[in-house]
Amino acid sequence: MDKTINARTGLKGSIRIPGDKSISHRAVMFGSLAKGDTNITGFLTGDDCMSTISCFRKLGIDIEVVGDRVTVHGKGIKGLSAPSEALDVGNSGTTIRLISGILAAQPFDCVLNGDASIRKRPMKRIIDPLSQMGADIESTNCGYAPLTIHGKKLKAIEYTMPVASAQVKSSILLASLFTEGKTVINEPVASRDHTEIMLNYFGADIKNNNGVITSAPVEELYGKDIEVPGDISSAAFFMAAGLIVPNSHIIIKNVGINPTRTGIIDAFKSMGGFVNIINERSSGGEPVADIEVKTSRLKATTLEGSIIPRMIDEIPVFAVAALCAEGTTVVRNAEELKVKESNRIATMSEELGKLGVKIEETDDGMIIEGGQKIKSGTVYSHLDHRVAMSCAVAALVGNGTTTITDADCVGISFPDFYEKLESL
Ligand code: S3P
Repeated sequence: MDKTINARTGLKGSIRIPGDKSISHRAVMFGSLAKGDTNITGFLTGDDCMSTISCFRKLGIDIEVVGDRVTVHGKGIKGLSAPSEALDVGNSGTTIRLISGILAAQPFDCVLNGDASIRKRPMKRIIDPLSQMGADIESTNCGYAPLTIHGKKLKAIEYTMPVASAQVKSSILLASLFTEGKTVINEPVASRDHTEIMLNYFGADIKNNNGVITSAPVEELYGKDIEVPGDISSAAFFMAAGLIVPNSHIIIKNVGINPTRTGIIDAFKSMGGFVNIINERSSGGEPVADIEVKTSRLKATTLEGSIIPRMIDEIPVFAVAALCAEGTTVVRNAEELKVKESNRIATMSEELGKLGVKIEETDDGMIIEGGQKIKSGTVYSHLDHRVAMSCAVAALVGNGTTTITDADCVGISFPDFYEKLESL
């Protein structure tokens, strides 16, 4: 599907965004391993999280979906059964990396596969630590999916994370539930901690002492009620739009503001953006708030170090906002962008180039000259949901009508993104 987006002014109104993708995946996975029912509300029914549901159904778990309400009839920590066919993770890196930690410890074998993008995303980062734990994971494609996992008895390890990746950390933590002894993970730069928060809520014993994370095996996890907050990574498109589209004022309701995810708020504030956090509250151990944004004169900034994992998925749309700022913005230490659903340094630079603006690619980030005038044109999503939505935000400040080709990939994380945009 192609989508046309007109340049706009005066985006006004209040919106709710879909549930957090990271939390939705985890609620299904942990609910499947727990004893009793897990009732999830605000679940993100985007394609990625539906891939997680489909995998756990094939592993013998009964999961009901009605709108954004999901009930997982968990069968306990030892309740999964051998699937009769390969598990298809679709486009979802979170599904394949987290589920590998679980499957490595099961008393059966299984095959994991996904789409063309998944088959290009690095899996060695989970194969290495899981193998140290005794896992037997075969990659017929040199460190990429498809993966064949032969279930084994695992042992606890001590592991230092070479990259800040919540997916890798979570994969090890899930495997650690099935070992004897305590697993220790040294995490020099913090990544999102939804796994630690939610697994503890289900009855696990995970502690984080200044970046040293310890996890003890569990006898059992217990089903819980989970209210999934709105996804700050989805809110980011509306934050950026509200800041750069003239005469805008938007309130985004019910957004998860876990401090491991709020780099985008800090970045926009440091650029002089009007970003107001209101109505702060807590839900299931996760902080939640409404976010108010108004059109602002942005100044350039530098992003590097520990803020990068706190906003890794938001950097594509941040780059669009930086194009509208005064001065030169530099993004460093963000090489992880190259191994997302697309190489987001390359794809953003290529597509924004088609709108008449230049983003300079560097080895670990980008240099963005502010004050460039974005034009309208035709851009390609590269089948990457966040590239499509970032281009849509750029299109709002173009000089006419922009067409995004293969625009329906937004269904991965934000199925009604275009409708929400039009509603403002
Ligand atoms: C995610 C972690 C991040 C993020 C991804 C979701 C998660 O990936 O980019 O969209 O749910 O754990 P890495 O942990 O690999 O950086």
